[in-house]
Amino acid sequence: MILVTGATGSIGRSLVHRLRRDGAAFRALVRDEAKGQALGCDFAVGDFDDPDSIAAALHGVDRLFLNGSGAQPLDGEQPMIRRQKTVIDAARRAGVAHVVKVSVWHARRESRLSQSAHWEIDEHLRASGLAWSLLQPAGFMQNFIAPGAFTPDGDLVSSYGDTPVAHIDCHDIAACAATLLAGPQDRKDAFVLTGPEALTDAEIADKISSALGRTVHRAELPPDALAAAMTSQGLPRRFAEDLAYLVKEVAAGSQTATTTTVRDITGRPPRTFDAFLTANLQPLRAAATPPTP
Ligand SMILES: NC(=O)c1ccc[n+]([C@@H]2O[C@H](COP(=O)([O-])OP(=O)(O)OC[C@H]3O[C@@H](n4cnc5c(N)ncnc54)[C@H](OP(=O)(O)O)[C@@H]3O)[C@@H](O)[C@H]2O)c1
Repeated sequence: MILVTGATGSIGRSLVHRLRRDGAAFRALVRDEAKGQALGCDFAVGDFDDPDSIAAALHGVDRLFLNGSGAQPLDGEQPMIRRQKTVIDAARRAGVAHVVKVSVWHARRESRLSQSAHWEIDEHLRASGLAWSLLQPAGFMQNFIAPGAFTPDGDLVSSYGDTPVAHIDCHDIAACAATLLAGPQDRKDAFVLTGPEALTDAEIADKISSALGRTVHRAELPPDALAAAMTSQGLPRRFAEDLAYLVKEVAAGSQTATTTTVRDITGRPPRTFDAFLTANLQPLRAAATPPTP
């Protein structure tokens, strides 16, 4: 039995769909009963902040998909660290054999926000005695249909200059997770997951223009200007500066290389950005269309 955490998120929904299609025995963890019913599969209601609910959800589970929200805009320790360590400890007590965890590319101690937080959680998992597979994805294509991807005028917010980025579709992260969850349970391995091509923001704006049938311009917001805009909106200065640090790394090329890992794991190539846009036209329109006056 597999427990899928983060089942209502961008990766989790796709993983639930895939496991149901494959006839796998699994249970989804949700925080909200109505969201569980909408998934249409066996589910348990629980919260990473409520260890008893996690212990109950893990009953009879031998494989765990561990995923939750990334870094939050606050000062101090990121809650994801405490939450995901709680789930790992509960998994060990419940007799889980193998954990497939969503981490991040370049997770390391001396970085910031989700990169250093994932490093700490990954270390906890490595030291747990459980078998593990760490998924280390590049930036998600789904970020382009998330709030804040476009200005209120419908321009694409662009912070990476002319540097190409090998964005990945969460659909492919879910496909890798499904394959690993069905495979040998004694592994200890990490996988850098990217899309099939690295694209500049200008190339992405052109592709979005074609998909929407209107010219989408770029609204350039370099990392320091991004941080200044966030602090002027009331977000903590430290958070804004840390985010700018991470964006600068990507703008310097840290996510430009592509890997063959999605194909190696699943046997088929990852989705192109064009295919992602075709599959997500409705949410793209909602994210990129200026409100009517
Ligand atoms: N975005 C990127 O470009 C990127 C790149 C590399 C790695 N990552 C990593 O990918 C992961 C997923 O990020 P995301 O923002 O895309 O996630 P997401 O799609 O928003 O999904 C987050 C999931 O976690 C669940 N969740 C949140 N808090 C929870 C809690 N206290 N207890 C139980 N479940 C909880 C949410 O449930 P509800 O529906 O109840 O909210 C949701 O199902 C993060 O670890 C992030 O660091 C992101």
